[in-house]
Amino acid sequence: MPAKGKTTMKTRALPIFVVASCVAIAAGVVCADFKKGYYSPDPLGSIQQAAPAALPPDAGYEVSSYPVPTLELAPGDGRQDVQIYCNTCHSPRYITMQPPLPAATWEAEVIKMNKAYGAGIPEDTSRKIVAYLQAHFTPENRKP
Ligand code: HEC
Repeated sequence: MPAKGKTTMKTRALPIFVVASCVAIAAGVVCADFKKGYYSPDPLGSIQQAAPAALPPDAGYEVSSYPVPTLELAPGDGRQDVQIYCNTCHSPRYITMQPPLPAATWEAEVIKMNKAYGAGIPEDTSRKIVAYLQAHFTPENRKP
């Protein structure tokens, strides 16, 4: 009967396995190479960095003066005031960067710099600056 044959195989397999295991363990115990002492890792080697490449003799370089862009504002009354007062927070290029603006807008611009941004430019100088801007940067008189 196939069912009985299977049972016999199982019942034989266990003692064979147990005996084999015991033999293997005994052989391991007998043959193991026990050494008394302190186990430590191999001394670690050190990695050495390569020496930097020698610089070629002509590796020197020179620098010239830093290029500072200069802004040529149209000559006229008030130009110096613009260069002095409209230069503290930003470049006076902010003026030439704008499209031609109506006279009233330039006045409002100077008021804004004084009131909103705290430029603190004296009254009479502010008026001179407004006049200068109105004389050079409106759609009627703006030169490219
Ligand atoms: C106290 C600092 C300060 C001073 C001084 C100053 N500005 Fe300004 N200005 C600003 C600030 C802040 C802005 C806006 C910041 C930005 O957009 O980069 C600005 C922006 C501008 C702009 C761009 C348009 C706008 O309204 O944002 C113009 C044009 C300008 N300023 C003109 C002038 C003129 C003309 C003067 C001199 C009368 C002047 N500024 C002086 C602070 C100042």
